[in-house]
Amino acid sequence: MIIDTHTHYEDERYDADRDELLQKMKESGILAVNAATDRKSMEAIMRMIDRYENLYGMLGIYPEYVGENTEADLNLIRELAKHPKIVAIGEIGLDCHWEENLPKEVQIEWFRKQIALAKETGLPINVHSRDAAEDTLRVIREENAAACGGIIHCFSYSSEIAGEYVKLGFHIGVGGVVTFSNAKKLKEVVAKIPIENIVLETDCPYLAPTPHRGERNSSLYLKEVIAQIALIKDMSIEEVERITEENARKVYGI
Ligand code: NI
Repeated sequence: MIIDTHTHYEDERYDADRDELLQKMKESGILAVNAATDRKSMEAIMRMIDRYENLYGMLGIYPEYVGENTEADLNLIRELAKHPKIVAIGEIGLDCHWEENLPKEVQIEWFRKQIALAKETGLPINVHSRDAAEDTLRVIREENAAACGGIIHCFSYSSEIAGEYVKLGFHIGVGGVVTFSNAKKLKEVVAKIPIENIVLETDCPYLAPTPHRGERNSSLYLKEVIAQIALIKDMSIEEVERITEENARKVYGI
């Protein structure tokens, strides 16, 4: 079985064929975990995980939206996280890519609060980190997030930083970017870290792998990612599938 550890199937780009797509994934032996970004997506996730057998969910507020976040949202997550198919707190973290992004201090404050919530609920975290390598690692260390563990999603940093996360017991999320011809850095990360610390993800509808680059992504395209990892690691497709499935099951407790 293939586990896609980070998806966004509540996106309106799936409105026309969501049932059909999730059914096709089920027939193809694919299980997916849907990431939350805000309150609206959390509500959609709670509906979808009851509707689709092969869909699990995570709950959290994306760094770009924490400005509107309140203690009531944390209480809502705390309550909804009791559902057995909620398997992580995410996606949470830091994004300093755009100039108009929220002040870093605000993002860090909510990152800390959501890590605390993960530890309280006994769930791992799914971390979004963009142009914030040092701050993310620092907060994760200061909050002792290794206690709950988790996945650094859509990993975009160096193999040295990946190595630091591996030491802390974290998993590295690898998706479509690894198939891009210019993705030297991520290919090096995959080459250097143990396969036991790699999990598959799409971040769909974004980041479709080659040869589907630019299209709407879905978990069905993960086979391109698996093939690329197998090539880099000099392993068989079956081995990559089996070990990344075990890794994802271990992190999410599925
Ligand atoms: Ni995402």
